[in-house]
Amino acid sequence: MPSSTAHVATDRPARYVRQLVSHMGHRTTTEIAGDGRGTITLSGGTCVLTPSGGHLDLIATAGDVEALAGVQEVITRHLLRFATQEELAVEWTAPVTAESMQIIDPVIGDYLLTHCTPADEVLQDLVVETREATGGASGMQISHDEGAFLTMLVRLTGARNAVEVGVFTGYSSICIARGLAEGGRLLACDVSDEWTSIARRYWERAGVSDRIDLKIGPAIDTLRALPDEPTLDIAFIDADKVNYPLYYEEIVRRLRPGGLVVLDNVFLGGRVVDPAHQEEHHVAMRRLNDLLVRDERVESVMLPVRDGVTLARRR
Ligand SMILES: C[S@@+](CC[C@H](N)C(=O)[O-])C[C@H]1O[C@@H](n2cnc3c(N)ncnc32)[C@H](O)[C@@H]1O
Repeated sequence: MPSSTAHVATDRPARYVRQLVSHMGHRTTTEIAGDGRGTITLSGGTCVLTPSGGHLDLIATAGDVEALAGVQEVITRHLLRFATQEELAVEWTAPVTAESMQIIDPVIGDYLLTHCTPADEVLQDLVVETREATGGASGMQISHDEGAFLTMLVRLTGARNAVEVGVFTGYSSICIARGLAEGGRLLACDVSDEWTSIARRYWERAGVSDRIDLKIGPAIDTLRALPDEPTLDIAFIDADKVNYPLYYEEIVRRLRPGGLVVLDNVFLGGRVVDPAHQEEHHVAMRRLNDLLVRDERVESVMLPVRDGVTLARRR
């Protein structure tokens, strides 16, 4: 089945999804999920519309290339009609099949989202509020499938003592806190009062605020202030990329044998493999990725989960 995607830059992605789904719902089958993703099923194929920070992702799928062109045409025409206050550029990629897809093609990304334990209402509402409150920054939030993966890892390690570096509005903290064993605690590190004030509200709603200790300040100071003993069961690193090597070092020496450190965004959108990108955080991430392979204190695996996730388990 050929598919095609379009990445449309706009400040009002969620609004377009609501408008299209509502308007086209009079003539065809449409659906809007609790997190704001829309699906429009036309006679020739379907289109999934996903609002994100600063853009709208469209995924059209149809039985053949001709039908696909029909879906693209209908969606593009309606989208442009609703864009009365801005000029949208809707450029579809050439049709792709499974054989020619990238590792995390948007079609697969969408499939991943809908094939793990579903997000509950709290997480869905958090996605929507984060998008509305933080705009383009909302792209920093982990995806739902990654959140489900985190909960699974926390449960599998039987963790009681967890650390998170990079809270933002609290999605990953909820996922970690929910997986903790009885009596477990999560030390959550961030520098932003503003973003973590949203997190605090959602921790309350999720019923996990009693097991999270939020520490506002540079995470490196918070980590260095921890006892220099192997007491940590799991840690999730998802903050300023340039300091990843420092965070890793402070955490790995405090992991108990069998403890796990989880690093997010290790692909940096693919830039880690492109030497043309030489900014400080690119260089730092490349070095850390290389170091992890040689670090005899851990066994590690890098996974194509979203922007790349590395798991390093203390021997
Ligand atoms: C990618 S976001 C975290 C996303 C979060 N894990 C989630 O699921 O929504 C990165 C966060 O790191 C925080 N941050 C940036 N620099 C930091 C530092 N030096 N120490 C602690 N937190 C930092 C930012 O304030 C931001 O909230």
